[in-house]
Amino acid sequence: MIYLNGDFMPIEEARIPVLDRGFIFGDGVYEVIPVYSRKPFRLAEHLLRLQHSLDGIRLANPHSDKEWSNLLEQIIASNESDDQYLYLHVTRGVAKRDHAFPKGVMPTVFIMSNPLLTPPGELLATGVAAITASDNRWLRCDIKAISLLPNVLLRQMAIDAGAIETVLLREGFMTEGAASNIFVIKDGVLLAPPKNHLMLPGITYDVVLELAAANEIPYEVREVSEYEVRTAQEILLTSSTKEIMPITRLDGKPVGEGRPGAMFALLHQLYQNYKSTVMRGGTSTFQGSH
Ligand code: PDD
Repeated sequence: MIYLNGDFMPIEEARIPVLDRGFIFGDGVYEVIPVYSRKPFRLAEHLLRLQHSLDGIRLANPHSDKEWSNLLEQIIASNESDDQYLYLHVTRGVAKRDHAFPKGVMPTVFIMSNPLLTPPGELLATGVAAITASDNRWLRCDIKAISLLPNVLLRQMAIDAGAIETVLLREGFMTEGAASNIFVIKDGVLLAPPKNHLMLPGITYDVVLELAAANEIPYEVREVSEYEVRTAQEILLTSSTKEIMPITRLDGKPVGEGRPGAMFALLHQLYQNYKSTVMRGGTSTFQGSH
């Protein structure tokens, strides 16, 4: 079952008018929320990031946090898997084609859920390949906009090169991946680029830094240069759907020793422990929601 503008229905029955501004202009924002054992992870933080994205495109939030959490609860309950990922999508609604904002138009709200399949063990054992590319996106990458054409093209470059992700470089510094955040390990220190307008503030990124802080893993949040990326001991990617994965080849060359390193092993273990205790546990179904 999916949710579309007030109704629950099978996805095959869902229809939107062709003049929806999401379809015409990519004028909307989205969120992806992982659900473990039917509990949405960091719902409050995801809804806060949704609000930030809506503010960024000057669109009023169509729902209160309580309403969002009720809608999500129904979608989770109607899906078979215990582990899911929720996709929420809000557009500026349906209006005659004109770039300027329409007046008095209801936003389009769409929610779906899919089974959450974490990366297969073989990939974690060998690590994955990535390429680098110049970050040619706009200067509001902190907004989780549905207009993802640059990300789509950048990610496809990786696929065409037999890799799975593209590490983006802007003016000599690393920003993030086409659909993930990127960490670099240099001299035993975990390096994370600072959250700013050049990258999406990842929820998984936060978890990794919290785990590092709680376990006395040396880390620095600062700009990471292209040189540091190219001479890294390890490179990691993170996202809600991929958790933490080791990048062991970059532009066809081995990263460090070309296999998942000690920092990956440690953070992955800490992440799995955190998942089985905090993410799957929790006192209320909708932790952090009001
Ligand atoms: N993408 N940066 C970009 C550009 C992303 O698209 C994503 C996630 C992230 C990681 O954010 P988080 O840890 O909150 O998932 C960083 C989602 C999964 C997607 O578009 O499907």
